[in-house]
Amino acid sequence: MAHIIDGKKIAAATRADIAERVAAFEKENGFKPGLAVIIVGENPASQVYVRNKKKACEDVGMYSVVIEMPEATTQDELMDKIEELKNASAIHGILVQLPLPAHLDEEAVIAAIPPEKDVDAFHAQNTGKIMIGDYDFLPCTPAGVMKMLEFEGVEVEGKECVVVGRSNIVGKPQAMLLLHKNGTVTICHSRTKNLAEVTRRADILVVAVGRADFITGDMIKPGAVVIDVGMNRREDGKLTGDVDFASAEKVAGMITPVPGGVGPMTITMLLENTLTAAKKYINK
Ligand code: GUN
Repeated sequence: MAHIIDGKKIAAATRADIAERVAAFEKENGFKPGLAVIIVGENPASQVYVRNKKKACEDVGMYSVVIEMPEATTQDELMDKIEELKNASAIHGILVQLPLPAHLDEEAVIAAIPPEKDVDAFHAQNTGKIMIGDYDFLPCTPAGVMKMLEFEGVEVEGKECVVVGRSNIVGKPQAMLLLHKNGTVTICHSRTKNLAEVTRRADILVVAVGRADFITGDMIKPGAVVIDVGMNRREDGKLTGDVDFASAEKVAGMITPVPGGVGPMTITMLLENTLTAAKKYINK
């Protein structure tokens, strides 16, 4: 049976370390790092995520503000709010919770966030920097995955790494971070032929497709490290990942559960980025 990677434990250890650095920052500068989270509309999952982000900030001693805007918010109103936060001295990180209501232009919103306050690392300037390996902010979920691998002593160099999923938020940046650690990286997606053949080569398999039970035990190399980024809700309301845990844990060497795996790490890396943003503000 696989070793279960405990995301909650790794997140708690990392957050304790961040809390110490936040306290030192405040002592030195006389103010707290500050994060503003904008949520538009009433998507219930987004409301839970946003609440968790605010609580996580407060738990490590940061300032945080949640800006709730109605479903009917116009593009101009949202842009004005971002402009206001851009100039707010107490706010060092800005995050607009996605997805936005369909009438709003997500790309334009991401482009409007000043790169130095872009704690999601979604702005083209930051994604470009990730590509060349000279980054200010690491994208939260892929960075959380790397932190877990490091914590568990998983060496990436020279390993066959397979990323299933090619989103701008997870798949693509995940592949880059593994590449920067000298992994041999393959990205799979919906048009990949013989997916199981590719995934069975993986020493490290990262799955981010958003489909419950997409990867089963027979698609995993014995002893592989399996990281499940999926967060799907079953009909009975239970959270489940993209990997069929029951069959996968019999084959894998290490595996992340859902919930309690990657999820807690994502918010942890957002905290890290907010502290980085506050330090940038000081050094400007
Ligand atoms: N919605 C789901 N995940 C994320 C994330 O990491 N950042 C933002 N802004 N929205 C999300």
